[in-house]
Amino acid sequence: MLEAEFWEAVRGLPVSRCEYFSSIGSTNDVVAAWGQAGATGLCLAYADEQTRGRGRVGKNWFTPPKSALAFSLLLDPTPTLAPNLLGLVSGLGALAVCEALEKLYGLTPQIKWPNDVLLGGKKACGVLAEAQWSGNRLASLVLGIGINVAPASVPPPSQLNFPATCVEAVLDKKADPAKLLRLILERLIALKDKLNDPYFIESWERRLAFKGETVTLESSAGLIKGVILGLSGDGRLNLRKTNGEEQVLNIGEIQIRP
Ligand code: BTN
Repeated sequence: MLEAEFWEAVRGLPVSRCEYFSSIGSTNDVVAAWGQAGATGLCLAYADEQTRGRGRVGKNWFTPPKSALAFSLLLDPTPTLAPNLLGLVSGLGALAVCEALEKLYGLTPQIKWPNDVLLGGKKACGVLAEAQWSGNRLASLVLGIGINVAPASVPPPSQLNFPATCVEAVLDKKADPAKLLRLILERLIALKDKLNDPYFIESWERRLAFKGETVTLESSAGLIKGVILGLSGDGRLNLRKTNGEEQVLNIGEIQIRP
């Protein structure tokens, strides 16, 4: 997206600091540094290209120029910390992207817990929520979102561990990245103070991919197989394992494999 289109897309939004980068390492690192330097209120960094985009569990995130949406928000740390705060914030990002894609293009995206947005069963968006601590105090809360818009943003198959797609491949026409960004930001702003509202978890659960299906979860403790039952009130995943036991999983080193 060109810089002028970006400024038009964010016009009038209640952000206290907002910057456009034609190329930067990672927008998550940019807003985390703002947080360290004492920034407050909702801050937004957007990049047309990321040279060191980061994904979950130490993976790279591919953001070539003029093909994707890549941005990060610095959120004011909440005074009361939910135990699964990063999980909830990841869900916030994924849900806002789903709602925007539904409204703008009539698509039916799904959320592969905890944070991937799927279109037609393939990954089109990833969310990386990160917290920085200063002793016991949450110093900054960062929500980074990357969306594959044009085909050039889809990584080569050798770099994928889950099939990927992009918005334009699903629509079979050009997308309007500025309109999509605007809608996502509006939904994020509307939802960010509702993380404890039943509407938030219900909306997330309604879009949960593989619900009722048997999946294998790759955790740091090994593989867990079971049926996805749904979400708990704080965004953790409820699973019924093959031995009949129920387990509640926190966001962590977990990858779902159908
Ligand atoms: C994942 O699916 O592994 C998460 C990907 C998150 C990518 C976004 S793009 C904007 C922000 N900056 C980063 O370096 N990562 C996030």
